[in-house]
Amino acid sequence: MFKVPPVFARRLQELLRAMPKAELHIHIEGSLEPELIFALAQRNDVPLPYASVEALRQAYAFTNLQSFLDIYYAGASVLLHEQDFYDMARAYLARAAMDNVAHAEIFFDPQTHTARGVAIETVINGLHRACEDARSELGISSTLILCFLRHLSEASAFETLEQAQPLLDKIVGVGLDSSELGHPPEKFAHVFARCRELGLHLVAHAGEEGPPAYIWSALDVLKVERIDHGVQAMHDAALMQRLAQDRIPLTVCPLSNQKLCVFPDLKNHNLRQLLDAGLCATVNSDDPAYFGGYINENFTQVFAATDMTARHAYQLAFNSFEASFLPAPRKAELIARLQAHIHAFA
Ligand code: ADE
Ligand code: ZN
Repeated sequence: MFKVPPVFARRLQELLRAMPKAELHIHIEGSLEPELIFALAQRNDVPLPYASVEALRQAYAFTNLQSFLDIYYAGASVLLHEQDFYDMARAYLARAAMDNVAHAEIFFDPQTHTARGVAIETVINGLHRACEDARSELGISSTLILCFLRHLSEASAFETLEQAQPLLDKIVGVGLDSSELGHPPEKFAHVFARCRELGLHLVAHAGEEGPPAYIWSALDVLKVERIDHGVQAMHDAALMQRLAQDRIPLTVCPLSNQKLCVFPDLKNHNLRQLLDAGLCATVNSDDPAYFGGYINENFTQVFAATDMTARHAYQLAFNSFEASFLPAPRKAELIARLQAHIHAFA
């Protein structure tokens, strides 16, 4: 058991920024900054319904998940060519490396692009090349997770899986995202069973806005290994016990939850309660270009709002490596690096 040495409260924010960490919940289309949206719109001659970067940023005032998704899908319409996907992912990975992210598992939404006539190879090859270059140039490792859009049909998810079949060596797993309410995990039972047979890792968004029942069915019907968000688990004591006992990771996104009004204020966020109940919670940015900050901003703001300590900081970074889909030796290496960092820091 690693004993976390004392860290002065005034140095905690510095520790949060400097400690090595993994990011496991980042939608790459949600890392498109308004400046890059405008640059790509110009490069690809795509019209935008906003006059300027500032006007677009002004539109980023959300009341719930759907109000965000409408703008997020519109922003993704500027992505047409392999180089566009490369530029987007390369920019995110450079930014993540600045936040001392040692490893990232990156979501992408192929149906958002194939519906506009962009081939799935264009999407996956551009993202994959950015991951390879970031590994050699920045020393950050990363893998891709293909997400099915849950507001579309299971037949559409199967069609997407079929299109991705020749490229499966470039992805580590599949996920489920988009509008949660009214689209329970069990709608995708067959396609997730097929992905499991193919040896892919499985994750799903559940319990972001949706009820604890969606977390239960993500676990028991889809058989996912991690829950994305999962903050509504707090309303079901039996579920909390199951998540703690089985060390099912939750990829929590504090600034996203604040901006989409899941919690009225960061002060009310339940991250600390989830950790103190023994759950394998992690901190992530979700859609950093839309929610006001990358991973370190999520760490520093939620810690400032909820009075967490160096012990929580260590636990969150440890959990991020434990919950990753990295091979065991690389996990051990990153955990050893984290422990050495905290010792040297204290
Ligand atoms: N797609 C991008 N961000 C999302 C979120 N927070 N929830 C569901 N789908 C998403
Ligand atoms: Zn998400």
